[in-house]
Amino acid sequence: MTQITNKQLGQLRLETISDGVGSTTTNFIESARGAMLRDVEGKEYIDFAGGIGVMNIGHCHPKVVAAIQEQAEKLTHTCFMVNPYESAVKLAEKLCRIAPGDSPKKTAFLNCGAEAVENAVKIARYYTKRPAIIVFENGYHGRTLLTMTMTSKVKPYKFGFGPFAPEIYRMPFGDVAGPEKLHDFFLKQVNPEAVAAVVAEPVQGEGGFIAPPPGYFQELVKICRDNGILFVADEIQSGMGRTGKMFAIEHWGVEPDLITVAKSLAAGMPLAAVVGRAEIMDAVHAWGLGGTYGGNPVACAAALAVLEVFEEENMLAKSVALGEKLKARFEKWQKQFDIIGEIRGLGAMLGLELVKGENREPAADEAKQLTSYCLEKGLILLSCGSYGNIIRVLAPFVITDEQLEKGLGIVEEGLAKIA
Ligand SMILES: Cc1ncc(COP(=O)(O)O)c(C=O)c1O
Repeated sequence: MTQITNKQLGQLRLETISDGVGSTTTNFIESARGAMLRDVEGKEYIDFAGGIGVMNIGHCHPKVVAAIQEQAEKLTHTCFMVNPYESAVKLAEKLCRIAPGDSPKKTAFLNCGAEAVENAVKIARYYTKRPAIIVFENGYHGRTLLTMTMTSKVKPYKFGFGPFAPEIYRMPFGDVAGPEKLHDFFLKQVNPEAVAAVVAEPVQGEGGFIAPPPGYFQELVKICRDNGILFVADEIQSGMGRTGKMFAIEHWGVEPDLITVAKSLAAGMPLAAVVGRAEIMDAVHAWGLGGTYGGNPVACAAALAVLEVFEEENMLAKSVALGEKLKARFEKWQKQFDIIGEIRGLGAMLGLELVKGENREPAADEAKQLTSYCLEKGLILLSCGSYGNIIRVLAPFVITDEQLEKGLGIVEEGLAKIA
């Protein structure tokens, strides 16, 4: 049998998949392991994208694969709302235990990140009996009607898709004066008594790997508490060890009222959760939350295996080590290449800002050239940011030193070419 090619599959894709769905690369991936991908023609790639932050513990971890296989042989679906099963409650127990803060917690399972954010908003509105939600510039929360409204960047996420959901208010993020500005915001934009929740990514992902300064969240959360507003941490990209702690908000030592988790939670199986203070999670009437597939048994079994792997293989330490290696290299590049502006992010959620000209303007074209060069050389590298000029690394923590070195070497060559 002749092997199918990227070109043939590309043609099929062109004929069958909506043009509204994009792909960064044109290579069809057949298999993956750890931090490596292999396409249908046998070409290998080092993966610095991890399926956009989903493969923190690596592709096809043997323990996760075994858990999926074992669960799939026993039971793949009942719908938790019809017949409950063990993997969901065992996983909820673990998530409630690892969620930041001492208050008793409860969990609700959904399928994807956007759905988790939607449900966090539903829960916050129900509990507070208030309509308004505050989000941030450069924030990203998904592509459903409500979450694209909450998302900041217009193109490609919002353009042409309005009208948007009501009662979403946006403020600046990440400058030390941010919480101070909230007082002003309450005067000019929305009365705090109407606000159900502030929803923030502890480290902004799609918006450009922006970490706010020390003290920011402590102050923000204090203002929320003083005004009866819930604080929701969207940990969908920053969570599951990415910043060196299980949840990025732990760096600021505050307890969110609700957190949203997805992506690396189940290492590629579609699973998301809202985990939050039990009193708030329990406020909603029975059947008010749920869905056909939320907390699917196979996805929950995968997530249980992921959490075991975190403990057994010291994934947080691996994440910290990866973050340190990346930072050291990025700092070297910053001195070497004029095109590099800020080093962004936290831990192993690290990005490079590319800038050009006297005014250090965003160098989006150069970011595209860099990611294309890397792809050609066998490295999957993503950009992000409102201006598309941030190069971000979401590599699996299990990447070997050799793979990391090779990948960074390719980026370095690419930087030399575009600089
Ligand atoms: C912070 C954040 N929230 C929500 C989402 C939406 O998740 P999903 O694509 O699974 O709906 C994402 C996805 O990138 C994200 O990074």
